[in-house]
Amino acid sequence: MTDKNEWGSNLSFILAMIGSAVGLGNIWRYPYVLYSNGGGAFYIPYIVAILLMGIPFLILEYGVGYNFKSSFAKAVRKINSKWEYLGWFLPVAVFMIMIYYSAILGWDGIYIVLSFFKGWGADPNTYFTTTLLQSSTSMSGLLSFIPLIAVAMLVGWVIIWFISHRDLESGLGKVSKVLVPALFVIMVLIVVFSLTLPGASIGLAELFNPDWSLLGHFEIWMAAFGQIVFSLSLGMSIAFTYASYAKDDADLITNTISIALANSLFENFAALGVFSILGYMSLQSGTAVANLVEQGTGLVFIVYPTVFNVLGQWAYALGPLFFLTVYLAGLTSILSTIEPLSFSIQNKFGLSRSKTMTILIIVGAVISMIYATAYGGSVLGYVDTFINQIALLFGVIVECIVFAWIFNADKLIDFLNSRSRTIKLGKWWMIIVKYILPIFIGIVWIGGMFDVVMQSSFDQLIFTVICAVILLGATLIFTVLPAKNPDWDNAEERV
Ligand code: PHE
Repeated sequence: MTDKNEWGSNLSFILAMIGSAVGLGNIWRYPYVLYSNGGGAFYIPYIVAILLMGIPFLILEYGVGYNFKSSFAKAVRKINSKWEYLGWFLPVAVFMIMIYYSAILGWDGIYIVLSFFKGWGADPNTYFTTTLLQSSTSMSGLLSFIPLIAVAMLVGWVIIWFISHRDLESGLGKVSKVLVPALFVIMVLIVVFSLTLPGASIGLAELFNPDWSLLGHFEIWMAAFGQIVFSLSLGMSIAFTYASYAKDDADLITNTISIALANSLFENFAALGVFSILGYMSLQSGTAVANLVEQGTGLVFIVYPTVFNVLGQWAYALGPLFFLTVYLAGLTSILSTIEPLSFSIQNKFGLSRSKTMTILIIVGAVISMIYATAYGGSVLGYVDTFINQIALLFGVIVECIVFAWIFNADKLIDFLNSRSRTIKLGKWWMIIVKYILPIFIGIVWIGGMFDVVMQSSFDQLIFTVICAVILLGATLIFTVLPAKNPDWDNAEERV
């Protein structure tokens, strides 16, 4: 019998972590980032970012989480009880991601259904922005509710509840073992098909065409580091929580390498598919690939339906498969975003896993209804910018300081090395996590804040402030509420 919060096997742990990493960022963000930052030349900063930041930082987050075997908030309190506040900050921020991710998942759910009959009609752009989202740039749009989106989001919340309220292994563990391999298989099918389309090589030549001159520019290095933070879900207390659920004999260093590899493999594969399809579209329409590429929502919900419209019968197979892939990728990521807060609450207030999940999911579903209004799309953009450019980068810096400096992660080196079947950590690891990372991320963080303040509209500034107040307020409440669990101050350590 496994504990309620323990993985049944190392395989569940790795697959769940890959499920968290492989998400929308790999499908809709990466291909565009690769293309717009020097194509083939981008691989240099990308690989540097993985080796210098991705792997060393993940090992830090895993190592400390594994050591404490308890939730993020409880462990941070154990490291220094005055800092409990920081221990709630990240789990709350990640829960805020969950709430807006549920909107994107909802839109995608609608597109799975539409793709069976090309329900977006002849003009996918108007369909998405006007018919479906009824996008309004005025705050009064908050008053016009869109029932279709609300229903689609609620379907997502019910699926999430169904999986998350069970014990860890029988819910998330089992689901990851099925969905993550399925996700890779479907992606391979899509990519192989896309590569055979006429014009695929036009798209790929455009994608990989290296622009070496960009290597001297600071921006492409920032783009590579930003992509890795987002794609590997670094500094989000997710890796921490997943490692705390691990059994005693896990080889964390090797797990980290497998996860980083699988994540990169998936996103580069996705890029092949996306650009083959854009090449096909370019051949059909006579429009240059450069004018077709879009990132994010535009790519998934506008460019792809446009391509499916000219693809003939094949579209009825490829369309549903594509939107299903996005759904699965999003689902396995969103499932991870509730774990840090849920486990922290269970630890402090002595509630069961099932009860905590049920409460959090109801709260999340209710708040998420703001995204089912005509102003929801705009709010989503503002919250996303706030969380990704401001809150989470701050979290990475804080984790470096608390874990590497205050906790003294050096003491984990021998323990982690003794289980490692691959690389061994040395002094270099501490230099990276103590100095290089916090300084580098600090620079990116200041740059990002500057961007937000300088380039925001008035509405965006208002929402940024509201988000900050909610995040800091919720964090404060969790910190000051008295603990109900007598065990709250006894964080067990493995080393
Ligand atoms: N890593 C995920 C992706 O690539 C995004 C994500 C962010 C997942 C935060 C969980 C939490 O899409």
